[in-house]
Amino acid sequence: MSKQGRPAPNEAAGKSRDGFTSSFGVLAATLGSAVGLGNIWKFPYVTGANGGAGFLVVYLLATLLVGLPVMIAEITLGRRAKADAVSTLRKLAPARQPWWLVGVAGVLAAFLIMSFYSEVAGWVFAYVFKALRGDILSSDPKLTSAAFGALISDPLQALLWQWGVLLLIGGILMCGVAKGIEAVTKKLMPLLFILLLVIGVRSLMLPGAAAGLSFLFTPDWSKLNAGVVLVAMGLAFFKLSIGMGTMITYGSYFRDEQNVPATTLRVMAADLFVSMLAGIAIFPAVFSFGFKPEAGPSLLFITIPAVFASMPMGHLFMVLFFVLSAVAATGAMLSLLEVPVSVMVGRLGISRLRATVLSLLLLALVGASCALSNSTLAGVKLFGMTFFDLFDYLSSNILLPLGGICICLFVGWVWGKSKLQAALSNDGTLANGAVVGVVYLLLKCITPLLIALVMLKGLGWL
Ligand code: PHE
Repeated sequence: MSKQGRPAPNEAAGKSRDGFTSSFGVLAATLGSAVGLGNIWKFPYVTGANGGAGFLVVYLLATLLVGLPVMIAEITLGRRAKADAVSTLRKLAPARQPWWLVGVAGVLAAFLIMSFYSEVAGWVFAYVFKALRGDILSSDPKLTSAAFGALISDPLQALLWQWGVLLLIGGILMCGVAKGIEAVTKKLMPLLFILLLVIGVRSLMLPGAAAGLSFLFTPDWSKLNAGVVLVAMGLAFFKLSIGMGTMITYGSYFRDEQNVPATTLRVMAADLFVSMLAGIAIFPAVFSFGFKPEAGPSLLFITIPAVFASMPMGHLFMVLFFVLSAVAATGAMLSLLEVPVSVMVGRLGISRLRATVLSLLLLALVGASCALSNSTLAGVKLFGMTFFDLFDYLSSNILLPLGGICICLFVGWVWGKSKLQAALSNDGTLANGAVVGVVYLLLKCITPLLIALVMLKGLGWL
């Protein structure tokens, strides 16, 4: 890293930066980051395990009061500085204030999340092939459970699927921001929506689907407690890819004429829509065939195949469902890995190719701890959790909220209202003073306080 005040090689002025080339490209890539296994794997089982609709209400509040302002702030900072997560905070902060450490923490969070995420994505890709071959086409959860157990408890298979996924993502990233990330997400996002609509409609047409809908939409407040509220907030952070520099990085690729609050609102709404559709695709089917919703992280791999196997044309829909999940996971992983890659390019001055290879190698090492969490390393537990569970818990419930608090405090108390106003109004081109006022108030006082309270209560420290 270069010394304070002296720009790193690739930070030098005048060098034209790779970035998104169209408004649709910006939307597809940003939505591609937000939408992922979070919607299809995490959202349904977390909602199922925490009481359904009551949890949903808290999650919605967390998304609006915490997720939205933090996401706007991150994108704005990145677009202003036009640099990676570490350099952005270094550039925009007053000299000698170590805000860039938030970017460093983001790189760490990216590695932790990517470690378990690429493993789940590996299972999803494996399931596309298994579904195609009809291997998991059984309506007996005991059999689907045995098939899943066989996959995750085989260390070699678990590692190979994870590394295969890493190679795919690395390959796309090497093509660059416009030719890699933007080009791929522009194709994948429309496909994702079509698949989700087809599967959602199919699920709603099943007999007994109403029970699933009422589970999703009738609140049971008795299950709510401080821990559940923390999980809902952690999910909001994870879902919107915030608190760890992803949106700073993507913001740096935004075009100058992009309306940041409007784009963010659209991404948030579309992301919620995908989660709801995933819920609508999954819960009615689960109830219709007499399964239990709170099956935990394995809902996707044990219950879902059994559900599909129970319905007419289930084989086809099962294939479509896992293709959909693979598509969603791909866009999110591109943005996760882009955080360390862009920091290495920006701070170390190495080429994109080298940065990608280096990140992949590091990830293959760290990620192996998660890939082997169900086999060789199953007995290794820290704080009572396997590496897989620990990385998941640590990132969503601690690192991302802490990162979020820092971003709020930085924009609210250090960067200040006039700079936020200038950046959010595209230097006076947009007349959005009221929006800026609300965002500023949230960032300065309400959002950081809310995050801190929920964290302290949820962790049992208050
Ligand atoms: N938002 C992604 C999802 O829901 C996960 C993610 C988290 C991506 C953090 C980037 C950064 O699947």
